[in-house]
Amino acid sequence: MIPKKPALVLGPSADLTSSLRLPGGQAVAVRPMEPCDTESMQEYVRGLSRRSRHNRFLGALNELSPAELDRLSRLDLRDQAVLIAEVQINGIRTIIAEARYAMVRDASQCEIALSVTDGWQRQGLGTLLLDVLERRASELGARAVVADALCSNQAVKGLFRKAGFAIRPDIGDARLVRMTKDVHPRVISGDTWPSASTRLLSWQRHLLGAHLRAQSGR
Ligand SMILES: CC(C)(COP(=O)(O)OP(=O)(O)OC[C@H]1O[C@@H](n2cnc3c(N)ncnc32)[C@H](O)[C@@H]1OP(=O)(O)O)[C@@H](O)C(=O)NCCC(=O)NCCS
Repeated sequence: MIPKKPALVLGPSADLTSSLRLPGGQAVAVRPMEPCDTESMQEYVRGLSRRSRHNRFLGALNELSPAELDRLSRLDLRDQAVLIAEVQINGIRTIIAEARYAMVRDASQCEIALSVTDGWQRQGLGTLLLDVLERRASELGARAVVADALCSNQAVKGLFRKAGFAIRPDIGDARLVRMTKDVHPRVISGDTWPSASTRLLSWQRHLLGAHLRAQSGR
């Protein structure tokens, strides 16, 4: 019988590897992105529909730069990481989703973003990955999980609303909404932990800004 609620098996807190099972029964492996994954991540990004890429990166973008891919594959895995979700397709491990988090210690917030490749959407994977991100944020001592999205992105608003996030217009940018959920920190942050050197949402806004400047020909 297919379980009504998706099953989630998380490894130990420091272990970012997990195994998910979709409501339809498909097993999905989740692990942090590594330097050897840059090519397959690029393929994943290129393989998203234009609309999904637009929604994920808050503007037009065909692919990630080699420098960005390299940076994403070398994140510290403590305060920030890219998690990739994979399945075997014809014996080949294939990325079908990615989820990112970046802890902002001075704000006790964890910034997140995710995408699921088009052919795998609406099967419960986004829900499971969002749960993984929330748990990770909690383990890192976050008091809130936050994400930015385009106002027009009904799918992500539906996903986050269902998961209990509040959705409000972004104060600084009329095109965006900010989605926020309070979480209970399971580990209180220590002074010895550095702040995330890169802020995920700033990065997304940077992309959006570049896109808008390109559009207006500045
Ligand atoms: C947003 C996204 C991650 C959702 O992933 P998913 O695996 O399809 O999500 P789920 O199957 O777990 O759906 C959970 C709920 O989200 C909502 N939802 C998902 N897709 C939706 C859609 N196309 N339209 C409206 N609501 C949608 C529904 O409430 C759904 O529950 P239901 O299927 O019981 O109705 C996926 O659509 C995606 O990758 N989009 C492109 C990238 C993106 O927009 N990223 C967000 C930037 S942070």
